[in-house]
Amino acid sequence: MGDNRADVQTIKERIDIVSVISRYLSLTKSGANYKGHCPFHKDDTPSFTVSSEKGLWHCFGCGEGGDVFAFLMKIERISFPEAAERLAAEAGVSLKRRGDGERERLRTLSAEVVAYFSENLTNAAAGKKAREYLIHRGYGEETWERFGLGYALPEWDDLKRSFSKRYGLKTLTDLGLLVKGKRGVYDRFRDRVLFPIFDLSGRPIAFGGRAFQEEPKYLNSPKTVLFDKGRHLYGLSWAREALTAKHSAILVEGYTDVLSLHLAGITHVVGSMGTALTQGQANLLSRFVSEVVIAYDRDAAGGTASLRGMRILRNSGLDVRVARLPEGDDPDSLLRRDGPERTLEILEAAVPFHLSYIESLKERYNLSTLAGKERALAEARPFYQGISSLPLKEEIVGLLAELLDLPLEGVREDLGKRQQRWRPTEEPREMEHSWGKEEVILSLLLRGEADFREVAALASPEDFSQHYRPIVEALATVNDPFNLSLLMQRLDEESARQASYLALAPVRFNDTGKALQDALIKLVKLPAIDRKLVRLREETKRCAQEGNRDRADELQRTYSALVAERTALVAQKHPRRGRDDKG
Ligand code: CTP
Ligand code: MN
Repeated sequence: MGDNRADVQTIKERIDIVSVISRYLSLTKSGANYKGHCPFHKDDTPSFTVSSEKGLWHCFGCGEGGDVFAFLMKIERISFPEAAERLAAEAGVSLKRRGDGERERLRTLSAEVVAYFSENLTNAAAGKKAREYLIHRGYGEETWERFGLGYALPEWDDLKRSFSKRYGLKTLTDLGLLVKGKRGVYDRFRDRVLFPIFDLSGRPIAFGGRAFQEEPKYLNSPKTVLFDKGRHLYGLSWAREALTAKHSAILVEGYTDVLSLHLAGITHVVGSMGTALTQGQANLLSRFVSEVVIAYDRDAAGGTASLRGMRILRNSGLDVRVARLPEGDDPDSLLRRDGPERTLEILEAAVPFHLSYIESLKERYNLSTLAGKERALAEARPFYQGISSLPLKEEIVGLLAELLDLPLEGVREDLGKRQQRWRPTEEPREMEHSWGKEEVILSLLLRGEADFREVAALASPEDFSQHYRPIVEALATVNDPFNLSLLMQRLDEESARQASYLALAPVRFNDTGKALQDALIKLVKLPAIDRKLVRLREETKRCAQEGNRDRADELQRTYSALVAERTALVAQKHPRRGRDDKG
């Protein structure tokens, strides 16, 4: 990877993260770390933690976190190259623009892979399923061509075999096309319809792959030299002209939303590729438009991630409106059922984000009761406090006073109150529901208290849930020797937040070796045994039905032995209780 990876590492070695962050907030020493009030949210307790030794920061209030580059990018709202430039100057490192050759090579590879996948889609026998699927969704051959759609065959090594001779496994892995598992590298995309993701000038840099039924429904390329989910928008190159002409963008979540709107002639549309809109994406949008119309489905639009996105957009100087889609619809399904005219009508009727937010309170709380009013007010508090414009704040006070039938003064005072405990509109912190097996494993690895090779011998990235996979995959590339700082460079914004949390959260393990073993048993061994047990039971039943007694008895014995093995494993995990294996 990395154009100037070595330079970035040198910068990190030379610059003390504590001294950089201290320019923006005051930090006090607390144990091995430093603490302060978070500059990214209204923070009454010092929730902001910095570790000089790890080179990481994390706010346990709002969930933001990362390395020194991430901090500078966020607080100064600048891009990675800009942050690197500044810190390089300070560290006395002259940044070399290396790796342009490598980038070009990756771009060429990317384009070849797009062609390869689209050939599968149009011509491969195994591509029939994909062809039928797309046609059924209303995407004919012209659409495949126009948007570069493709299909990855079901095999584990189809792409690997076709491309490794010319490009080598490392390059293919660097581009995120191969994944490193316990038995070597294999194709990331298998039996999926592929939506290539293009950069601003229309060159393919990554893929989103849709499964037919298995989970996860969508799989994206990881962060690579060419692609960072948080810094690209799906469809931007196709929308560019329309965006500039209209000064307005329709922001949707999904690949199919973008395609369907384009096909209906609505072209000022881009996709955030999931709900969590990032600062990088907002920066990108603000280069082309002054207004963004959010067209997420209702569940997502009311959700915390979407509120966070709205705030990011607002703070980037963009006007934000929210389209009210019918319950259960996304733009794609709406278009298909009600047609382009009705869809456009709904999009054009989008309301300013604060109105849509207040409207949503009406839907979510029973405002005729005292408790309902109290909760709505409490929820609106952080929303209100996150807004900096005074006129807008006053408008919200007025609307809420009317909605709740309360006096203006009281509402204004209440909304401004400091509030610690109940903050439903903040980013949900996935990791804060007690720690499970994955958090334990990853946290040990990130703290350098466990060896990745020990984990990799048993588990593949696919044994982890989708939202942790980027971290697992990145760990596989920096384990010899383990290099936390390099790891952080390979993570996108969202994964960096998770990593800084897992590395800095104030937890202590009594016995790290045992904690790791227990978590691995839960993550890999028990599920494997359970799958085997299910298969055995089915086969035993079949043999019994066919009258094959001996075979059925034999299978039954294997089954019992496996159950015993499982019990022993569970007991090993909980020596005293011995039976509980929940988790
Ligand atoms: N997404 C993702 N990973 C997932 C699920 C979703 O990256 N496991 C992203 C994809 O960019 C996807 C978008 O979130 O397009 C919206 O997801 P969803 O609403 O679940 O899918 P749709 O776009 O509606 O997809 P489809 O119409 O194909 O069902
Ligand atoms: Mn959809």
